[in-house]
Amino acid sequence: ADKKSILDFHEMKEKGEKVAWITAYDFPTAQFVEKAGMDMILVGDSLGMVVKGYQGTEPVTMEDCISHSQDVRRGAPNVYCMGDLPFMSYQTSCEDAVRNAGRFIKEADMDAVKLEGGRRVCDQIEAITEAGIVVCGHIGLTPQSSGQLGGFKAQGLHVESARELIKDAIAVEEAGCEMLLVEAVPPKVTGFIADKLDIPVYSIGAGKPCDGQLLICGDMLGMFQAFTPKFVKQYASVAEVEIQAFEEYVEDVKEGRFPTDDHVYNIQDPEDEFEEM
Ligand code: KIV
Ligand code: NA
Repeated sequence: ADKKSILDFHEMKEKGEKVAWITAYDFPTAQFVEKAGMDMILVGDSLGMVVKGYQGTEPVTMEDCISHSQDVRRGAPNVYCMGDLPFMSYQTSCEDAVRNAGRFIKEADMDAVKLEGGRRVCDQIEAITEAGIVVCGHIGLTPQSSGQLGGFKAQGLHVESARELIKDAIAVEEAGCEMLLVEAVPPKVTGFIADKLDIPVYSIGAGKPCDGQLLICGDMLGMFQAFTPKFVKQYASVAEVEIQAFEEYVEDVKEGRFPTDDHVYNIQDPEDEFEEM
């Protein structure tokens, strides 16, 4: 299938066609994602937790994100791919925001970038949009500011905080966002936002009433072991498959069952000529 464009995502919202979206960080996973017919890939800064084993996303650098975005693009040349602006790559100034967003397009061939926050990052959203880059907003549970939220906690559970989220959603659309991701908020709030906005609104842990779903590949494949958020549906147990394979290999080596004649290169000259080597 041809790679989608931002126009396709707007059209899908109009037609009520749901978008299937997943994170990926490496070449093989990106290949499998493309083969599976996914609409979109996020090279999330969640790579800090899923791939690098950090406790949070704050230590992730632009270099990490660019490098993984390049790997993903090589694996999925025909999937719409979004780079994720890491902590402190856009908060500091509009200039930093534009320069770093531009790197995803220029150096990693991404189709769009995502950044966290509502009204407080509208200047950055405007600046990046002005530079000609598609921006996706991200509100609700925003991991880069989890310190302020008091942890990885669901948001918008009360009327007052839900109202603030809705104001943020409207503000980022007005600032130029072409997509919005809502994380870990009640479906009622998500539905209100998706109806209110013209741009596509996607959910991670924010329920069904919106234009598509995102999951973290490490969660849905059963590879990420630190914790599993309530909103994850696990589709496979890849960790179990890998551990079992590694265990069998260890045993085979120790017991001399591997390698066998099937796994070696056989000499082509008569054996005795090798005696005098
Ligand atoms: O980095 C990421 O994968 C994300 C999701 C948690 C939404 O931003
Ligand atoms: Na992220």
